[in-house]
Amino acid sequence: MAENIMVDSHVWVEDPERAWIDGVVLNIKGDEAEIKTNDGREVIANLSKLYPKDIEAPSEGVEDMTRLSYLHEPAVLDNLATRYELNEIYTYTGNILIAVNPFQGLPHLYDAEVMEKYKEAYFKELSPHVFAIGGIAYREMINEGRNKCILVSGESGSGKTETTKMLMRYLAYFGGHSAAEGRTVENQVLESNPVLEAFGNAKTVKNNNSSRFGKFVEIQFDDVGRISGAAIRTYLLERSRVCQVSDPERNYHCFYLLCAAPPEDVERFKLGDPKSFRYLNQSSCYELDGVNDAEEYLATRRAMDVVGISEKEQDAIFRVVAAILHLGNIEFSKGEDADSSSVKDEQSMFHLQMTSELLMCDPHSLEDALCKRMMVTPEEVIKRSLDPLGAAVSRDGLAKTIYSRLFDWLVNKINISIGQDSHSRRLIGVLDIYGFESFKTNSFEQFCINYTNEKLQQHFNQHVFKMEQGEYQKEEIDWSYVEFVDNQDVVDLIEKKPGGIIALLDEACMLPKSTPETFSEKLYHTFKDHKRFMKPKLTRSDFTLVHYAGDVQYQSDQFLDKNKDYVVAEHQDLLNASKCSFVSGLFPPLPKESSKSKFSSIGARFKLQLQQLMETLNSTEPHYIRCVKPNNLLQPTVFDNANVLHQLRSGGVLEAIRVKCAGYPTNRTFIEFLNRFLILAPEILKGEYEAEVACKWILEKKGLTGYQIGKSKVFLRAGQMAELDAHRTRVLGESARMIQGQVRTRLTRERFVLMRRASVNIQANWRGNLARKISKDMRREEAAIKIQKNLRRQIAKKDYGKTKSSALTLQSGVRTMAARHEFRYKLTTRAATVIQAYWRGYSAISEYKKLKRVSLVCKSNLRGRIARKRLGQSKQADRKEETENERKVELSNREEEAVDMSFVLHSEQKKPYNTFSVVSQITDPIRDTEIESLTAEVEMLKALLQVEKQRADISERKCAEARELGERRRKRLEETERRVYQLQDSLNRLLYSMSDQFSQLKSILRSPSMSASTMASAPVVRDDLADSSENSEASSSDSDFTFPAPSPSSDNFSTFNPNQLQVIVQDLSTTEAKGTESYDSDKEGGFEDYF
Ligand SMILES: Nc1ncnc2c1ncn2[C@@H]1O[C@H](COP(=O)(O)OP(=O)(O)OP(=O)(O)O)[C@@H](O)[C@H]1O
Ligand SMILES: [Mg+2]
Repeated sequence: MAENIMVDSHVWVEDPERAWIDGVVLNIKGDEAEIKTNDGREVIANLSKLYPKDIEAPSEGVEDMTRLSYLHEPAVLDNLATRYELNEIYTYTGNILIAVNPFQGLPHLYDAEVMEKYKEAYFKELSPHVFAIGGIAYREMINEGRNKCILVSGESGSGKTETTKMLMRYLAYFGGHSAAEGRTVENQVLESNPVLEAFGNAKTVKNNNSSRFGKFVEIQFDDVGRISGAAIRTYLLERSRVCQVSDPERNYHCFYLLCAAPPEDVERFKLGDPKSFRYLNQSSCYELDGVNDAEEYLATRRAMDVVGISEKEQDAIFRVVAAILHLGNIEFSKGEDADSSSVKDEQSMFHLQMTSELLMCDPHSLEDALCKRMMVTPEEVIKRSLDPLGAAVSRDGLAKTIYSRLFDWLVNKINISIGQDSHSRRLIGVLDIYGFESFKTNSFEQFCINYTNEKLQQHFNQHVFKMEQGEYQKEEIDWSYVEFVDNQDVVDLIEKKPGGIIALLDEACMLPKSTPETFSEKLYHTFKDHKRFMKPKLTRSDFTLVHYAGDVQYQSDQFLDKNKDYVVAEHQDLLNASKCSFVSGLFPPLPKESSKSKFSSIGARFKLQLQQLMETLNSTEPHYIRCVKPNNLLQPTVFDNANVLHQLRSGGVLEAIRVKCAGYPTNRTFIEFLNRFLILAPEILKGEYEAEVACKWILEKKGLTGYQIGKSKVFLRAGQMAELDAHRTRVLGESARMIQGQVRTRLTRERFVLMRRASVNIQANWRGNLARKISKDMRREEAAIKIQKNLRRQIAKKDYGKTKSSALTLQSGVRTMAARHEFRYKLTTRAATVIQAYWRGYSAISEYKKLKRVSLVCKSNLRGRIARKRLGQSKQADRKEETENERKVELSNREEEAVDMSFVLHSEQKKPYNTFSVVSQITDPIRDTEIESLTAEVEMLKALLQVEKQRADISERKCAEARELGERRRKRLEETERRVYQLQDSLNRLLYSMSDQFSQLKSILRSPSMSASTMASAPVVRDDLADSSENSEASSSDSDFTFPAPSPSSDNFSTFNPNQLQVIVQDLSTTEAKGTESYDSDKEGGFEDYF
């Protein structure tokens, strides 16, 4: 490794706290490297102790550690830690499953759904799981007809029992009966666990539910793979715990459960507070966190029901348990004789009574059995008293014996109840056995436990390494021996016969004078040169064994006592004589010859049991589950590197990895190999080759080296199987791709054809839709244009009409004004003429009246003279004549008037008038004839006058009429003027409103909803306006009319451009000239420009 390490390399370096810590190499001097660790420290380490770190390792770790790029301790540890952090508690190492105790419930890992998933999947198809191990064991058992065993090992509290329970649950799920209710075999197997745990488990410092016995459950299956029977074998229950509990541990659970039982049971057994019993109150721990003993008691009884233990038997069982508690409370004091003892006090006597009552034996016999011993000598049988200490030892011995017999009875009962399937040819064994133990004080129990673990490790070694290397030899391949830690020597040291520790212990036990010291001396002497045996300094009876998992120092002082496997005859007799069949059944009478001749020891018995177990294991194919305890605090999420590393080392996991990788971790028979990899060289099928040659062909074709071809198997180096598998996967992948390609082509073509058809349909429909839409748009556009055109025409027409009527109004107004001017002028000249006429008339009349007065004066003078002349003729005649004269005078007046008139008329007709000639004629002497002619003339003048008068009247009337007419016309003219102004005003407003409308129209047309053509309208409007202004200028010179400037008083007029009006007038005139049609067409063109 060292040659791969250079400056900037990422490495693992040993750390006293974290076992291994990663860092970067800063500097290398000779063999020493300076490393900056990831916690910021700088350390110096020897290059040979550094391991490279794979910085490209997946962040979630790898599922199988044999696939780690760098397979070494720190990488393995880091991988486990990484996965543990993600609650991935299971990891493979080859085929070994490593299970790290989560110390927290992970129900999602074990529910029915997960079971179903693993049931369907092949091994390693899914992530590592205890179910995968159960699954492969079951499938291989069914498919290959091989018996299987699953060995669950690990230190105390690492999760062996929990893992075993999961396995059993899964196997029951796999091989259970469909209607899994009531007392089916699988239910009984599962429910045996709580029963055995209640009587065989206790809280220890390492585990709150520590199994104080080993257990091997053999699950038998019928030909169709259903569970048909089961056998439970237990190993070495820790008996000393019954009467000796260290703080803060607890005795077996069943004692506490019974103390928490329903009151009637407690009363029946005269129990109470656990603190009142010596076997329980040696420790201050009575309760367990999260465990309710009362509920557990009921649950245990329910489990007993399922398992097949009757109510009566259950009562008897708990009666015995209660008896043990009472037994423990019997104290002894010195008896009357020397070295004798008796029950200490009333309290003790009560407990003695209770014990005998519960065990249904005689209390005196019980007291005797506890305080006395029979010594059988060839001559006689001597009854010897025991001192109080001896009596207490005897009492504890009895308690331990009763309890261990009770436990054995339970196991036996369960086995009978579940039943064995003698026809079964298939089985899966699950072993849950205590792990390697090393405490401060290690006694006979630890010795046996560690012996078991040595045996199991040996089995593991044999399977993993030895079998492997034996296989190499058998197959006669070239292989170099792979060194591995073989513990055969330790096993021999313990169990060899003769000369092993157990044999020596048995020997010592058989010798009456043996003491722990003599036994230790014997050990020291026998094994002084053994590399696995050591004598610790400063001890007289301790010895140290170098186990595969580490050194353990044992205190041998109790080895002899604990090894002796016998029941005191008094105890045997006492309980055998019990009136309770259950109790007497626990102590059946011993066969006479065996009791005397054969010495039996726990060690020897245990060795035998282990041998049987090993035979069973060897006859099956093993699967290994190594449980790991991540910390000693029993806390979730705490991963103590050093602790885990120790377990991995002692569990042989690291060694297994190393050896496997060093040798040929994979082998396959030729047939298996060809079945699997023939696909890599299909040309082999064309010829007829030996299987061996064919295998070699394939391997050479793929360029592999270092492999070995045995007699019947191909042996591959680490990673070569993976390489071949990769080739195979590639070939399979390519073939699959080809097939997939063809299938996909077909499917795709079909899909394509379908899609094309669909797409053509869609296109057709879409195009139809589009065309309809376009046509609709076009129609709408056309309609819009038509509407616009008509609207514009209408607007234009309306405007034109308005403008035309305005112009006409203006024209009429202007014409009226001109006529009024003319009329006013004419009126003025006519008035003058009339005035002249009147004046002349008045002058003529005044002259006439003057002449008339003169004529009258003349006439009156004349008539007076006539009258005075005729006055004398008769008064009557005078009167008549006077009347006649008056009439004549009147007539003459009239004549005179007529003359006057005729004179006037005459003077009118004949100018200049000769007034003096008329007067002279009148002044001539009147003659009658002349009068008559004058009368006639007067008459004529009168007529003339009359005519003239009539004419004057007519003239006067006409004059008045003319004046009246003139007045009316003046008024009309004024009215017309006012209207013209109004008209101009409204015209201005009209123009403004028109411009407003135009601007609104423009803004509407500019709005986004309008079409593009509408958008283009704005500039046209401006052009149009500009044009119109130009036109107006151009046409102003041609104007037929001129208008007065608008009144400055009008606001509207202030902005009014007279030219515009002219334009309108001009337009109107031109329109009138050109005709409406041409106007329309011109304007239309203009409006089209708008849009
Ligand atoms: N898979 C698991 N999921 C949740 N908790 C677990 C799991 N395995 C173990 N535990 C916890 O760890 C505790 C100890 O486990 P268990 O009793 O199986 O240890 P053990 O190896 O059998 O110890 P011992 O050798 O003392 O009998 C259990 O009580 C349980 O709380
Ligand atoms: Mg256990």
